[in-house]
Amino acid sequence: MKTRVAILISGAGSNMAALIDAARRPDSGYEAALVVSNVEGAGGLAIAAAKGVATATVAHKAFGKDREAHERAVDAVLREAAIEVVALAGYMRVLTPWLVGGWRGRMLNIHPSLLPLYPGLDTHARAIRAGDAEAGCTVHLVTEGVDEGPILGQARVPIVEGDTPGALAERVKTAEHELYPRVLRAFCRGLERG
Ligand code: GAR
Repeated sequence: MKTRVAILISGAGSNMAALIDAARRPDSGYEAALVVSNVEGAGGLAIAAAKGVATATVAHKAFGKDREAHERAVDAVLREAAIEVVALAGYMRVLTPWLVGGWRGRMLNIHPSLLPLYPGLDTHARAIRAGDAEAGCTVHLVTEGVDEGPILGQARVPIVEGDTPGALAERVKTAEHELYPRVLRAFCRGLERG
């Protein structure tokens, strides 16, 4: 049995698409069972639907400032779909300890920097401004600290002369699309073996 994975998105969903495509390979070890967005009409939702993956939207706006109430609604959707592992893929919400605790050891995130460098936002501009020679991306387990959990895998890309945050973001995304499916597959296969 393949591990049932839900992918949480807020936007374009290019990492989500890479995870869905990789899941279709016979040796993937996981199934992209559900895509959940916190943003109505997020670009990734249509892509997921076109790929035949079930989608759900739990708009955070409806919950005002009550983050945990929103998370409880998201969690209910995940449990209903018998999800075993959650992959955050451009899910732009800071999670409360409630959701993190409920999925401890079973929730992964991809972050566009070589953690522990540049947690948070604007990672590409910060790496360029610092004069770094390389940037990259990290897949890690989600813990209470933002972008702080144990690292499962990283990929590096060069920062080139005259780089812009946009150009670097594209280069990093290409690396993300290879890294995330590879790490998720290994993670799910590890779960199978117990
Ligand atoms: C990705 O680069 C991902 O690493 C980043 O958002 C982008 C989503 O793109 N995530 C974060 O910044 C999380 N803090 P996508 O929607 O095309 O996958």
